[in-house]
Parts: sequence; C-alpha cells; structure tokens
Amino acid sequence: MALERVGKILKMADEANTSVIAFNCINYDMAYSVVTVAEELKKPVLIMLYPEHQYGFNDTDLRGFAEMVKSLASTVEVPIGLHLDHSSDFAYIIKAIKAGFTSVMFDGSMLPLEENIRLSKKVVEVACNFGVDVEAELGRVGFAADSDEERMDMYTRPEIAAEFCRKTGVTSVAVAIGSAHGVYLETPKLDLKRLEEINQATDIPLVLHGGSGIPNEQLEVAFTKGINKFNVGTEFFQLYYDSIHEYMKAHEREQNVNLLFEMSKYVQEKLMTYLRKKLQLSKF
Ligand code: 13P
Repeated sequence: MALERVGKILKMADEANTSVIAFNCINYDMAYSVVTVAEELKKPVLIMLYPEHQYGFNDTDLRGFAEMVKSLASTVEVPIGLHLDHSSDFAYIIKAIKAGFTSVMFDGSMLPLEENIRLSKKVVEVACNFGVDVEAELGRVGFAADSDEERMDMYTRPEIAAEFCRKTGVTSVAVAIGSAHGVYLETPKLDLKRLEEINQATDIPLVLHGGSGIPNEQLEVAFTKGINKFNVGTEFFQLYYDSIHEYMKAHEREQNVNLLFEMSKYVQEKLMTYLRKKLQLSKF
C-alpha cells in the first residue's frame, strides 16, 4: 500500500477507541522491524523521524529516509504512516514535507501561547496545500530528568485546549499530562482526569509523548480517553543498543563481512520480539 495519511490512521484509532503507536526510527533495521510486525499483527503503525536523530544527515538523507519508509509500506497491506517528530524549525518542516513526510509536528511548546498559536497556524496553512497533517504541542511534555514540580507547571490546561485547536486548525495535539521524554526517575502517574477534561473540550485526536516506561494499566485507560497516537522512542533505542552490544560481545574477535549481515538479522529479531508485545496495547 502507499503511505496512509496519518490523519486517517488517527481517525481509525479514534473509531476503535484506541491508539496507534508511533515509533522513533533512524534506519532500515528499525523501520523494517516495525513494518514487518505491524503487517503480521494487522495493526496500523507510524514511523517517526526525530530531527535530532538526523545529526549529520543532509536533505538527500531526509528524502532517503522517506523513500525507505514509502518502499517498506508498499510491500504490506496494513496502513503505515510517516511523521516528522518535534520540529520548531519552519524551513526544516518544509524540507520534510517536500521529502515526502505526510505528517509533521510543529513543536511550539517552548513559546508563549500566542506565538505557539500563530506559528502552528502558519505551518497548518502551508502543510494543507500539500495534503500533510500537522501535530502541535500545548503545554510542555518536557524531559523525565526534570523535576515533577517543573513539569506540572507546564501541564496542558483544558480551558485553553479548545481555543488552541480552533485557532490553529491542527489535526492532532500533544498534551502534557504527566509523561516526559527519556528515562523516568520514578514511575510516572498520568493525570487521567485532566486528560478526560481536555478530551471533552476538544474534538481532535490527542497525542501522548514520552511513551517509554509508562505502566500499561495507565496506557490502557489513556487510550480510551482520547489518546489516539502514542510516541515511543527511548526504550526502542535502548533495545537496539543492547542488541548490538550483545552481538558484538559474542563475536568479539571475529572479522567477517557476513557477521554484519547476521548482526542486522539478530537486531531485527530482538526488535520484533519487543514490538510483538508492545503492539498488543494498540487494540485495532
Ligand atoms: P520516549 O523517548 O520517552 O519514549 O518518548 C518518545 C517521544 O515522545 C517522541 O516524540
């Protein structure tokens, strides 16, 4: 199948009262594993590129990544979406759209509200000419390493969520309700009451970032209260590093080009085992 519109996949998730899972990927091993397991389990998924993971890449690489995901999607029947994760750089977003990303996130969470609204709207105006969906962030999800008090100050306020969505025209919005990016110092506790209030105040899909390390019981509830896109990065990357280290340790003194191919297969198997379990959360 051709790449599916992310907006359409989020709508399917909403109708199924669940969430699609969006994985940060940087290369073929990761994207191939996600697409393969999605097809096996018949669950739509999203592949995301996080601009910081593009360190050293140039425009051609951005296009290469998009082409790789398009090509993988064309080999399966299950809907696959391609999304540019957090970017606050307008020029970079345009490059991603031109490279073939069908969905982008404009992250204005560091900006004052009015500026976040103005710039999110500007991205929507351009993106809709290309048929591309736009996610914004309201409040600030932040990093797991920040203190709880710091992050609670930045939680999404239900009373401004409706106005934000109406004024910007975004197709989905990331909410700050207690999750954070990276490795949690303590088990996170999502503010599900706030989520419910935001969900009541808005009529577009909500997005939960900072997916690594949130207990499944909380996720299951969040997915029935408006979260239709769930982002996972850190734990997927950690598994990738660990698998490479394991493989290299077992083959420390060997030098043979076949080992590199075997390593790729080894890593894919590890990632796929994780993905088979993770995707059970997504109740399509
Ligand atoms: P984690 O890296 O904490 O899983 O979060 C991923 C994310 O939210 C990407 O936008």
